[in-house]
Amino acid sequence: MDSLNTRFAARRDDFDRPVLVTGSGGCIGSWALAILVRAGVPVVAYDLAADRRRPGLLLSGEELDRVAWEQGDIADHEALDRVVAAHGVGAIVHLAALQVPFCREDPIAGARANVVGTVAVFEAARRHGLRRLAYASSIAAHGAPPDSPWLATLYGAYKACDEAAARVYWQDWRVPSIGLRPGVVYGVGRDQGMTSRTTFAILAAALGCEYEVPFTGPVSWLYAGEAAAAFVQAVSREREGAVVFDCNGAVATVEEGLATLRRLRPGARLGSRGDPLPFPAEDRDALLRAHIGDYGAISIEEGATETLRAFEVLAQQDRVPKIL
Ligand SMILES: NC(=O)c1ccc[n+]([C@@H]2O[C@H](COP(=O)([O-])OP(=O)(O)OC[C@H]3O[C@@H](n4cnc5c(N)ncnc54)[C@H](O)[C@@H]3O)[C@@H](O)[C@H]2O)c1
Repeated sequence: MDSLNTRFAARRDDFDRPVLVTGSGGCIGSWALAILVRAGVPVVAYDLAADRRRPGLLLSGEELDRVAWEQGDIADHEALDRVVAAHGVGAIVHLAALQVPFCREDPIAGARANVVGTVAVFEAARRHGLRRLAYASSIAAHGAPPDSPWLATLYGAYKACDEAAARVYWQDWRVPSIGLRPGVVYGVGRDQGMTSRTTFAILAAALGCEYEVPFTGPVSWLYAGEAAAAFVQAVSREREGAVVFDCNGAVATVEEGLATLRRLRPGARLGSRGDPLPFPAEDRDALLRAHIGDYGAISIEEGATETLRAFEVLAQQDRVPKIL
């Protein structure tokens, strides 16, 4: 995965203490671990699951062994606090969460992970005086206000609550934070959630299978490496305030993205159907870059090329996910 060592590489000197990555077994978490490990930054991983399959798609076994892996529930604030203290953590990239379908299936578990878990992270930052905290909100938070034209989901409501809590943590206790609202993330490691279908289209093209993306129209094509690089850049120095930014990467219609895939793999049998995704897809990343500094970017063509090649290699090793 060349982009890890080139356009998304972190600077070792920016980090004087270990970085804690929550949700480190997930898609963006795996890329964040990989960026930090490759740069030689000490990293502590925190996830409910002990499964390191996704990070293992990006890192060698020897590289994975350099990660201090802590298994725990993000809502267990005492356990989280112990981990931050034990490792002398200096920055937190908070990604642990349940996605849209899982929040719909189990709203209590969703609220525990996505709201209580985020408050636990802010409490840890407050208690340990951390001034480098980036957390994942979501494009789905746009659906939370009552007059919003976008789809309201419990997931989006929880993320909007996190953003409101972040503002109060700054107002009352001067805990600074940067909230990122990723759009539709694609790339190796993306294998669940309602917007994972653009990644499955790339996987289908790599495997030579037919595939139909169940939505159409404008979407963000946010490469997982680019999303992770934004989180890493956000904690690369101490911050002020409680700010939130959309993070969409390249914006194009589903149809344009599929046309790119057909150019890269002529004969790929890909289509799309249905309504546009009920979330905004506007290219406003310049605002984020102006605030945190540049963190690298990748076009759909380049991101898809890297992902196709990776899936083709992983398929030979029987390590690709089941297409949903
Ligand atoms: N992938 C996207 O397109 C996208 C878009 C917008 C926002 N986000 C947000 O970005 C973050 C990362 O997304 P992702 O795609 O990597 O998600 P993912 O589903 O791949 O990974 C989430 C990780 O969180 C862990 N987790 C879940 N509940 C936990 C708990 N109670 N305690 C500890 N760990 C727990 C899971 O085990 C998993 O490894 C999430 O907060 C998500 O809501 C993602």
